[in-house]
Amino acid sequence: HNAPLQILSVVDSTNTYLKHSTELHINGAACLAEAQTAGRGRQGRKWVSPFGASLYLSMYWGFHGGYQALGGLSLVIGVAVVRALKAFGNISAQLKWPNDIYLNGKKLAGILVEAEGQLDDISHCFVGVGVNIRLPDNPADEIDQPWADLYSDSDTEPDRNRLASILLDQLYKALCRFENEGLVPFLEEWRDHNLFQDKWVTLLCGPQQFSGRCCGINEQGALLVETDKGKQAFYGGEISVRPY
Ligand code: ATP
Ligand code: BTN
Repeated sequence: HNAPLQILSVVDSTNTYLKHSTELHINGAACLAEAQTAGRGRQGRKWVSPFGASLYLSMYWGFHGGYQALGGLSLVIGVAVVRALKAFGNISAQLKWPNDIYLNGKKLAGILVEAEGQLDDISHCFVGVGVNIRLPDNPADEIDQPWADLYSDSDTEPDRNRLASILLDQLYKALCRFENEGLVPFLEEWRDHNLFQDKWVTLLCGPQQFSGRCCGINEQGALLVETDKGKQAFYGGEISVRPY
């Protein structure tokens, strides 16, 4: 596809940059950076983003029909990242609901989907993806959970540019399909890569906690958990899943 691509050296966050760059508000337009000084995860958490060590990219998409249509977009992007890693090096990654990508039980990549406004019924969407390529020990020490990168898992230096091009292609294709057909065509592949499929999990929703066996996702992308009150669907937002 021919949408614009901008390659930057250092930015605060590629998502923030894309939001402010209205000339890039064209479906499939993307920006990549070598480093982020204020890389973000969900709920204001920090994404450690040292120079040249990872892929930091954001892609723009505008959706007609407003916000309701966006439920599940993070899951679709997760499937696109899994496909890109498979095509790149036959890497088998797993998905942790709603927005994380794991390799051998450790966090390899993250997704941050942000939506804005409803100008003329279009939701402006900023799809951010960070994939660790080769993280230096410092500042990786700052990451307060087990992490993975592609380098530690292979014998050769991963070709970052090749991964970027495969990932941009997969993201573009997935966004086109999601726009036309919604989440349904992605459900089975998402479930096949579910990190917690059939495992016991605890869900943290603010002060509340729920435990049960994870049994996949429904057609809206809600996480399904078999609790002592029966099968319950948990919809996005501020929920975090942890092993039981
Ligand atoms: P959840 O998404 O389940 O709520 P999470 O801990 O994965 O929980 P996120 O907001 O998705 O939270 O991601 C941010 C977290 O990711 C940070 O708090 C940190 O623990 C971890 N993290 C930060 N930078 C990196 C990185 N480069 N690689 C892997 N993990 C990172
Ligand atoms: C998470 O796990 O919570 C999501 C992390 C998303 C990180 C990417 S890196 C490119 C884009 N810019 C950001 O500031 N965040 C996303």
